[in-house]
Amino acid sequence: MRLLLLILLITPCFSTTLIIGASGAIGTQLTKKLLDNDIQVIAGLRKTPLPAHLTSHPNLTQVFGVDCRNATSINELFSSNPSIDTVWNLAAPLSVETSSDPNLAYDVVVNGMSRILSAMSVHPNAKIILFSDSIGSYGSSSPREGASARWLLDNPTQDPGSDYGRQKRECRELIRDWAAAVGERSSRFAVIPGVLHTDATWGAGTTEYALDAVKAAKDNIKYISSVPLNVKLPMIWRDDLIEGLFRLTLAPDSELNEPENGYAIAGLSFTAAQLFSAIKSRIPSFSYSAENVRGPAAAFARLWPDSLSSHEAERDLKLKATFRNLEDVVDLLLENAPKINEEL
Ligand SMILES: *[C@@H]1O[C@H](CO)[C@@H](O)[C@H](O)[C@H]1NC(C)=O
Ligand SMILES: *[C@@H]1O[C@H](CO)[C@@H](O)[C@H](O)[C@H]1NC(C)=O
Repeated sequence: MRLLLLILLITPCFSTTLIIGASGAIGTQLTKKLLDNDIQVIAGLRKTPLPAHLTSHPNLTQVFGVDCRNATSINELFSSNPSIDTVWNLAAPLSVETSSDPNLAYDVVVNGMSRILSAMSVHPNAKIILFSDSIGSYGSSSPREGASARWLLDNPTQDPGSDYGRQKRECRELIRDWAAAVGERSSRFAVIPGVLHTDATWGAGTTEYALDAVKAAKDNIKYISSVPLNVKLPMIWRDDLIEGLFRLTLAPDSELNEPENGYAIAGLSFTAAQLFSAIKSRIPSFSYSAENVRGPAAAFARLWPDSLSSHEAERDLKLKATFRNLEDVVDLLLENAPKINEEL
């Protein structure tokens, strides 16, 4: 009897985080970070498995056929995994993808969030929802420098100027209302800048122009810029972002002092001209053209702020980005980025 009691007392209460959209550029690395810190992870995937170095991890469970457009698949995921207490919803098309099919994006992003929250409501162990917001939420009336997550909440009727931004706003409202409805629940969101990484592939976003340019330089192909030369955008080296998302996941509510637990995760900012010149100083043959730049990426780049506020995440999450210098980041990108013909 005594022994049984002792065993019960020392058995740790395992925390299980569900990541929806776990196979993306952020999802794979957040999965790894949580696993590295002894957290059980359930990866909700449509069909693409995670990389082999993760799938062999004993604390990872992959669940396939999880589709934000399909309520049954979401409900079944929660029913068969009652240990889920925390949910990261990362499933979302990027900005340029959203502009090419806003209705599909709406069903994934906004209706998808509703489906996830409905399932969480009937599985009360699932108490924490986290959401990846974006610099695409800021419209032309937003501050150019030091944009904070709080600004979005203080200006709920500003026009983000895109379906992408409007969908993010609806998600913030959905998670806020869900958390407010029942005590013990918590909603959190991170405002994410352009993510710089060394994966072999990436989707159609706006800030991905920087990855396209590096790839063109390595492959000795002329780069046709999708954003204007003089436009500055907030970016982040992926490891710094993942550290921020990790801290936001684990922080007790009592340490989160920002409204609706929203935090901008700031890294560094640079213009396309600064990036191209840093590339050219390392690869002199790099050539580009940035004349008559138009299209959704150019419009978004002009609309979005130049930099994010780092103050709130530094104060509450003790987060300080390691990579804040463009030259260092360009070195990292050029050292590690695979060439097209080396992808596989
Ligand atoms: C799996 O998680 C448990 C508890 O969370 C931890 O003790 C164990 O070290 C983890 N296993 C690995 C291989 O990381
Ligand atoms: C929705 O998900 C369920 C459960 O995974 C699956 O059986 C069903 O075929 C899916 N429906 C569609 C339209 O994909």
